[in-house]
Amino acid sequence: MNKVIEDLNWRYAVKKFNAEKKISNSDFDTLKESLRLTPTSYGLQSFTGVVVASDILREKLVEASYGQRQVADASHLFVLCSYSKIKDTDVDSYMQLISHTRNVRIKNLDGFSNRIKGEMNARSEQEILNWSTRQTYIALGQLLHTCASLRIDATPMEGFDPAKYSEILGLSDKNLTPTLAIPVGYRHEEDITQHGAKVRKHLDDLIQTI
Ligand SMILES: Cc1cc2nc3c(=O)[nH]c(=O)nc-3n(C[C@H](O)[C@H](O)[C@H](O)COP(=O)(O)O)c2cc1C
Repeated sequence: MNKVIEDLNWRYAVKKFNAEKKISNSDFDTLKESLRLTPTSYGLQSFTGVVVASDILREKLVEASYGQRQVADASHLFVLCSYSKIKDTDVDSYMQLISHTRNVRIKNLDGFSNRIKGEMNARSEQEILNWSTRQTYIALGQLLHTCASLRIDATPMEGFDPAKYSEILGLSDKNLTPTLAIPVGYRHEEDITQHGAKVRKHLDDLIQTI
């Protein structure tokens, strides 16, 4: 079987992690780099990956996740958070980054910069949040595949109370809305979910050629 398909069949949404088994530092660096390399609209990267290292905070997140213990038991926990504001100064910083990285004059980026600022300023905070949130789902997809290729397990999770997460993680006044929790680590041998066959539509019911 093709390696990509083999990896995608190997992964599943873990219900029970082995709390004793930790991801190596170098593998964890690869996961962070995968998030950094995620494509985003305009390249603005309007999200932050919060790594929750505190066991105390992670235990508190279990209740805010309707009792789902993966957030406490996995080796590491990412909480992807979306911006609801994009200020002109954020766009200016991005232009500086392009200018520095690609060695282009900032003046030559004026058109691009003004277009982004015009679009962002015309949107409500809710619209910006919805748009930024979509970026986090792209990051999720990429991270899940990266994990699978390293034989690291993960659970994509939106089953939590964002307001409670915000309070527990102290994010309320930081322009960061929790969107996705992604515990990563290693499956527990008692997690029976790993033995279930993949439930997916037939290809002809999912893909249409017109
Ligand atoms: C955006 C998203 C949110 C999800 N939220 C949860 C969750 O909160 N808890 C959970 O156990 N699984 C969650 N899942 C896992 C799905 O139920 C699972 O991916 C789906 O049933 C397909 O199964 P598989 O991933 O094991 O192939 C979520 C999946 C996605 C993509």
